[in-house]
Amino acid sequence: MQHSLTLSFSADRPLTGEAVLPGDKSLSHRAALFAALAEGVSVVDRFLVSGVTRAMLNALTALGVAWRLEENRLTVPGVGLHGFTPPTAPLDCGNSATTIRMLTGALAAAGTPCVLDGSEGLRKRPMDRITEPLRAMGVRISTPPNHCAPITLAARSPDVPLRAQAYTLPVASAQVKSCLILAALAADGETVLREPGPSRDHTERLLASMGADIRVCGPEVRVTPLARPLAPLALTLPGDISSAAFLLVAAALTPGSTILLRDVGLNPTRTGILDALREMGADLTVENPQTAAGEPVGDLRLTAAPLQAVRVEGERVVRMIDEFPVFAIAACFARGVTEVRDAEELRYKETDRIAVLCAELRALGARVEERRDGFMIHGGSLRGGVCEAHGDHRLAMSLALAGLAAPEPVSVRHAEILNESFPDFVTQLRALGATVAEIRG
Ligand code: S3P
Repeated sequence: MQHSLTLSFSADRPLTGEAVLPGDKSLSHRAALFAALAEGVSVVDRFLVSGVTRAMLNALTALGVAWRLEENRLTVPGVGLHGFTPPTAPLDCGNSATTIRMLTGALAAAGTPCVLDGSEGLRKRPMDRITEPLRAMGVRISTPPNHCAPITLAARSPDVPLRAQAYTLPVASAQVKSCLILAALAADGETVLREPGPSRDHTERLLASMGADIRVCGPEVRVTPLARPLAPLALTLPGDISSAAFLLVAAALTPGSTILLRDVGLNPTRTGILDALREMGADLTVENPQTAAGEPVGDLRLTAAPLQAVRVEGERVVRMIDEFPVFAIAACFARGVTEVRDAEELRYKETDRIAVLCAELRALGARVEERRDGFMIHGGSLRGGVCEAHGDHRLAMSLALAGLAAPEPVSVRHAEILNESFPDFVTQLRALGATVAEIRG
């Protein structure tokens, strides 16, 4: 059992030095699942070991996949697209929406009967965004009347393909897109998916590298059913840009800081936070650009400079969808009023990230206005105090960073939830020079 953790950060000196981030969370989920669907043994280095990726691995164990983890090297003997063993109990996807949504797509393709469930928090997240289009493909799938987990999938013979379809996603979502791409691998023809915005395209890149016929033409993804088994993976994952964002904002908030983050994934569908921080005035450069694991990668150097308020809206929102909590903290210490629009999707994350973020920033004294699709933050108003993580890993880490720049101390209660995505958060910030008090109990 995990003890409750109260975190309190302060900065007595500039943050300096280098850090290597843990492997990307989105790519870790995909690498584990797609390796299981391949034929042959995959080896994935710099796999992120954290709460949410453990949920994926444990679910794969329950489906008969004998993966092995040595430090950050994951070895997966693939079972093939139709090789899962029907589980004897509901699959526990923990707090991981990526796990439940992508696994549902894979299990729909496989025709494996099962129930997918998760934590109390996961049971509040909408699943009709995957069950409706899957049903249109002929998948027999059901949820309780609130359209949330548990999800029940009926058995289907591998000889009966799913129905190919043309489908437009109502909201840009890589989880939904990935679920439907996986199901489309077992369809009777070409599936065409259209998205209203550029959500992360890791699934398209990774499955194509394994031999799947997936073509991306602008906002459209075309998926041909699998003609031959997926080839196993041998790759090293890039560092997680979403975790990097916490270190970047920490340095941006601490005058005199310069930090270098090595080997960070720089997929253009994920770099909205870099654009936003640059526009705010941060001195942020990319060094040593390369390609690794089919993804753009580079080193990020940030030197602190005074921040100004900006407006974030439109396409950039989806390109930084996980970074709004930490962006909001940067905005609290920027000059002027920051505005976020077109971001209603934030209400369907680990928490309602608009309502909860605004409430917790207000608890720290910040002047914040909540909108249906975003918020406004008046820079310079946050004072300090005690706030709550609400079971949201990104909220916990973001609020903690406020302590680096606030005039009074900031304590974040129930911050242990950060282990879901970035267990090294405190260690890495300490190594860069932040002062961190941890109270357990
Ligand atoms: C993810 C996609 C995003 C993101 C999540 C990870 C993924 O969710 O918020 O943390 O790995 O595909 P949506 O696709 O639902 O926006």
